[in-house]
Amino acid sequence: MKAIIRQLTEACGPSGYETEVTGLIKDLIKDHVDELRTDVLGNLVAVKHGSAEGKRIMFAAHTDEIGVVITYIDDHGFLRFAPIGGVGISTLVGNRVRFANGTIGVVYQEGKAEWKELTLDKLFIDIGAASREEAVQKVQVGQFGVFHREFTDLGDRLIAKSMDDRIGCAVLVEALRKLDRPRNTLYCVFTTQEEVGLRGARTAAYGLDPDLGLALDVTLTGDTPEAKRMAVSLGQGAAIKVKDASHIAHPRVKDLLVGLCEAKNIPYQMEVLEWGGTDAGAIHLTKEGVPSGTISIPTRYVHSPSEMVDLRDVQACVDLVLAVAEADLEGVV
Ligand code: CO
Ligand code: ZN
Repeated sequence: MKAIIRQLTEACGPSGYETEVTGLIKDLIKDHVDELRTDVLGNLVAVKHGSAEGKRIMFAAHTDEIGVVITYIDDHGFLRFAPIGGVGISTLVGNRVRFANGTIGVVYQEGKAEWKELTLDKLFIDIGAASREEAVQKVQVGQFGVFHREFTDLGDRLIAKSMDDRIGCAVLVEALRKLDRPRNTLYCVFTTQEEVGLRGARTAAYGLDPDLGLALDVTLTGDTPEAKRMAVSLGQGAAIKVKDASHIAHPRVKDLLVGLCEAKNIPYQMEVLEWGGTDAGAIHLTKEGVPSGTISIPTRYVHSPSEMVDLRDVQACVDLVLAVAEADLEGVV
């Protein structure tokens, strides 16, 4: 599974330009699903048929990652940029970004800018061009880039850019590769444009109109020095979301997930996230409403170039997805 996580996290997929990621996923799952299609917004929909007594479940993991878009190229060849999704200043200065054509640049701050007063418009990208003419040979206004950083294997713990949410994609890929003929019919949707407002999940859910919606995404932890108080830690199991800013998990869905973890001895922890959201925020408001929840992968340093997960939590999330696929959902949804 580490090889899959490396492959997915090292791919380039800023919001709206996720085809490199969806292409990789397609290759990984094509022999393990009954149908595979791409919809108008670029969502990759993988269908695995269940039995007649099963329900229709939509799983969503987003393929896009936060990034930057070039807004201006000055006479000296420096690039100015706007954020794609929640990109923080402290994660940018001194780090490198990579554009789809492979061009790499370093992000730095204007010399006169004070750290305390730093805003994104005081940062620039240096791609090593000596002039505007030289820069436009490599990049154009409107091109999207992402953090440039390699995957690191620390044993049980892994560091990479875009664990948010390639780790959720990896969980779904792994589950699909392990499943034979599940009880429930699964629509595994590798969604687009989550980081800019849950956009892919919104249209996908409308089209599928599932009986149950489950997002797979990262969540924050409270286990680093002086962290904001939060009862989620790395290595303590799959996090079952109670609420975040986008969504309150349907009580029956939350109870289903807890019950499955208890019955199958899957390590889990309850998650209350006071900020942020996931694709479940869009899915549960579809049409007349879809009972929904979120299975979260505890992750440190979310939205930085070095997001850290624990492989044992990832495995717990895979086991929970497999349990949901086989669960009797009569009376739940
Ligand atoms: Co995110
Ligand atoms: Zn995410």
